[in-house]
Amino acid sequence: MALDIAGFDLNAIGPEFIENPHPVLHALRRDSPVHRNADGSVYLTRYDDVLKVYQSRDMLSDKRVEFGRKFGQCPLLTHHTTSLIFNDPPYHSVVRKLISGAFTPRKLAEFEPLISDIVDRLLDRVEDLGELDLIEDFAKVLPTEIISFMLGIPEEHRARLRGYSLAILGALDPVVPADRLEAGNRAVEEFGAILNDLIDHRRANPGGAMQGEVLESLIFGEHEGRRLTQEELIQNCIFLLNAGHETTTSFVGNSMGLLFDNPDQHRMLLDQPELIATAVEEFLRVESPLQIGNRLAGEDIEVSSGVIPKDTYIHTSIAAANRDPEVFDEPDRLDITRKPNRHIAFITGIHVCLGATLARVEGRIALGRLVQRFPKIAPNGPRTRVPLARFRGYATLPTRVR
Ligand code: HEM
Repeated sequence: MALDIAGFDLNAIGPEFIENPHPVLHALRRDSPVHRNADGSVYLTRYDDVLKVYQSRDMLSDKRVEFGRKFGQCPLLTHHTTSLIFNDPPYHSVVRKLISGAFTPRKLAEFEPLISDIVDRLLDRVEDLGELDLIEDFAKVLPTEIISFMLGIPEEHRARLRGYSLAILGALDPVVPADRLEAGNRAVEEFGAILNDLIDHRRANPGGAMQGEVLESLIFGEHEGRRLTQEELIQNCIFLLNAGHETTTSFVGNSMGLLFDNPDQHRMLLDQPELIATAVEEFLRVESPLQIGNRLAGEDIEVSSGVIPKDTYIHTSIAAANRDPEVFDEPDRLDITRKPNRHIAFITGIHVCLGATLARVEGRIALGRLVQRFPKIAPNGPRTRVPLARFRGYATLPTRVR
């Protein structure tokens, strides 16, 4: 029976949507691709429409009005309105330019041995454990170590990063209970205080060492004569730490969940390790770690079913775009050999994910080695999801390796 989506409202979604949004997304894409929510915002689910929004310079990322309404004056508002992701040029260009030097292919090549070392160390531990939570004991550790290394975050703070990150990013969900807002505000304050001290220390003691290089280029770098203020530094570091590990943790967890659910594809990857490159693209397509984006229409924009007027708040469904049957054959099927694979898990346009190459390298090394080293890896009990619609990942993924 066709799903009735006439009354669907993104701002009133519940746990069923979070568990599996795809029946609703397929129905929206087919019957209401520019779906209007009760608050006047629209939700786009077709690949071409989502792509067009991301490619247009008139679609704005500045969220001062939207977040002002949502959060009121509080640390979460300061954080989310200062990080580059929710800003437009010229401020966006300044921060992006300062960060991007750390993500060149040459810099990333330098990271590969570090990534391999961390993965091998983790896999030795996994072997000793035999039974583990794949999220806690594996997926979250690698990206946390890498981004902490890039920013020079000392060991003693690293264990708290995922908690901060989930609290801060969780406040971006369409529906946010009061206790989650409170946790988000607390996280910005605590995390901000740690970074404030680190920045002061680094400013006084520039190291020149590889560890913390990103922090140094943010502190001392200039773009067109402009340096970042202390507040801008703190909030963009928080953002980078969150962006650098939260989605990658989910990416690794989601990928293993997909292999557990698709034993034929798991077998194929085991037999043909060279398929890891196309496999990671397919994992990113089928279970995109970031599922929903937003833009404010700075001008009218024409999409598949008419014109979205200027000033409309737009929600883009990356998850739905990545399973659009107009672009992907059998879109719900995991096919680790899929090629071409034009997924937009990292979007496109001026905000295209700066960490895409790093995430791909981390994914290839971590997943490739995990699968090859433990051919018997299998689920070991029920999994739980992170209860968010925007970010898709597992909170726990019990696993055994023998
Ligand atoms: C699989 C992992 C990842 C996914 C799926 C992902 C996805 C995304 C997406 C969709 C955006 C654009 C959001 C928007 O403008 O609406 C984005 C932006 C960004 N990502 Fe990632 N990301 C991942 C990993 C990383 C990593 C590892 C880093 C850094 C170490 C990173 C750093 C950034 C930054 C700095 C931006 C902001 C770019 C800008 O506004 O110009 N990401 N990411």
